[in-house]
This record gives sequence, C-alpha cells and structure tokens, in this order.
Amino acid sequence: MLIKIPRGWEMPERDATPESVFLNRRAILAAAGLGAASGVLQAAAETNPFAAPRNAKFTLDRDVTPEWAATGFNNFYEFHPTDKQAVRHNVGKYVTSPWAIEITGLVEKPFTLDLDDLQKKFTLEERLYRFRCVEAWAMAVPWVGFPMAELVKLAKPKPEAKFMRFVTAMKKDQMPGLGMAPWYPWPYFEGLRIDEAANPLALVVTGMYGKVLPKQNGAPVRVIVPWKYGYKNPKAIVKIEFTTAQPSTFWNKTIPAEYGFYSNVNPAKPHPRWSQATEKLLPDMRVVATQRYNGYERFVEGLYDGKEF
Ligand code: MTE
Repeated sequence: MLIKIPRGWEMPERDATPESVFLNRRAILAAAGLGAASGVLQAAAETNPFAAPRNAKFTLDRDVTPEWAATGFNNFYEFHPTDKQAVRHNVGKYVTSPWAIEITGLVEKPFTLDLDDLQKKFTLEERLYRFRCVEAWAMAVPWVGFPMAELVKLAKPKPEAKFMRFVTAMKKDQMPGLGMAPWYPWPYFEGLRIDEAANPLALVVTGMYGKVLPKQNGAPVRVIVPWKYGYKNPKAIVKIEFTTAQPSTFWNKTIPAEYGFYSNVNPAKPHPRWSQATEKLLPDMRVVATQRYNGYERFVEGLYDGKEF
C-alpha cells in the first residue's frame, strides 16, 4: 500500500450528475413502489431512510470531506488494486441487491439477514466520523448506519464466542480487480473482538451523505470502526462468524510484518515504511497531526491495556 497523491480532482459536473439522478430514481421507486410521478418526489424525500437523523454526540474538528472526494478516491481492491480513482469507474457490473449476510458460528441459532431485514430490524442514524487510512490520508464522512452492538445483540453469541470474523463478497464476473491481483488471499476478510464490535462507536453502514452507500464505498453494507486504520473497515460483507480464536485478517496474512490484528490508530508507532505522525486530508491534502485512536480515545480506552496497536 503506497500513498499516491491524487491528481485530477476537478470532477466535471457532468460526471457527478448520472449518479445523483440514479440515486434519486432509486429512492423514488423504493418509496412509492412505482415509477416517477411528480407528487412522488415529496414522498421520496420524506421516506428516504438514508436521510437519517444525525447523532449529535459525534462531532468533528475538521470540515466534512466533499462527497465527490470521499466517493472518488477509494481502496476497494476487488475493483482496482492500485488506482484509487479507477475504483468508481469499475463498479458498473457489481450487483448489490438482492444481498444476504450470513450470521453464523458460535451463536444461539445461525440466521441470514437481507437488505429488507437491515431496514426493518435496526434504526438508522447519521454520524460524522473521522476516517484514517494506514497510508496516511484521511477524511471526515457523514455515515448512515446502526450500532454494531445491535447486531451482536440480535446474534446472541454463545459465552465461548470472543471474536467476530467478517467475510466479504467475491464475485469474479463483477469485480475486475480480483483478476488483476490474483495473488491476494481473496475474499477480503477482517476481524474484531466482540467487545470492540459492541463498543458504541462501531457502526454497520448502509449509507453516506444521506444516500444509499455507493458501490465503491462498500455497498450494500460495510463496517466502520473509526478508531482503527481504514483497512479494519471491511466492505461488501456477506458473512459474520462468531469464533473463540482470534481470526486471521487479509492484510495480516498478506504482510504480517506490517499489519497487525488491532491496528488502532497511533501517531507514535510508525509504519515500517513511513511515519504515522501526521495525515493528509482529502481532497487538498492539507497536513494535520494524527491523534491517538484517531481522536476517539475517550470512547475506546476501556477496551485496551494500551498495548494493542
Ligand atoms: N474492503 C474490501 N472488501 N476490500 C478492500 O480492498 N479496503 C480497505 C477497507 N475495506 C478494502 C475494504 C481499506 S485499505 C480502506 S482504507 C477502506 O476500505 C477504504 O474505504 P473507502 O474507499 O470508503 O474510503
């Protein structure tokens, strides 16, 4: 993973338009169950579940990153393993509905959640979170989702369950990056301790910027744990397994000397190949100091004895 300074940030308006037209059309159809008619627009605005109420507990010390930047500079190796600005152009064939998430392993009774279940069983809210990639770029995003603690509660883990293992989609015909980088241990997989997942900060995310989650940002469902480096936030989740043993993770398996299990943001612990003391904010790459636990220390310090980085 090498930091690449983005170029060509000026996105012409014509590039942005088709997505917003598409998203509006989806919201209208979802709200009305039928095609566009003028009165339906109002109904869509009122029932768009991604325009969720903002949780005022989570505030920022920086501006929200412009939407075009957060959705135009992505790490999603399944679609392009090296070019972050190509990802959004490579998601055209990716089908995100219907979708099923298997909840399995050491739970009272394994079950499956579909997209409808995610809407009905959980209450969506919006949260402004800082996001810090291990490559030292950062952003601030209004995510829409629900606390992962709610999912843990629904899953009813057995007492011997200590960890959650996340497995993500691997669709060879829809994800061109898989063929470009066959040496990686696909599908992408990650893990958290259950008490980390149940920490109030951990979110299951289905939307951003008041809209359905864009494909390039991990549609239809991803994890956001903002006190950890970006790679601990798996996208396109299809399976969550409860385990006793600490699960292996994609980046730890690929480069164990560089990427550990906890991966909590720590400016005092350099990556073997670069400093982590500062970060560059999308899109202008202004440099700011990196904060311990990405600024979320007071929320998470109870989880750790100070050595888990
Ligand atoms: N999830 C999957 N399935 N595949 C990936 O390549 N990349 C990770 C993480 N989740 C990745 C993933 C990394 S390295 C980062 S920094 C974030 O997603 C990037 O999220 P963003 O594109 O929404 O900024």
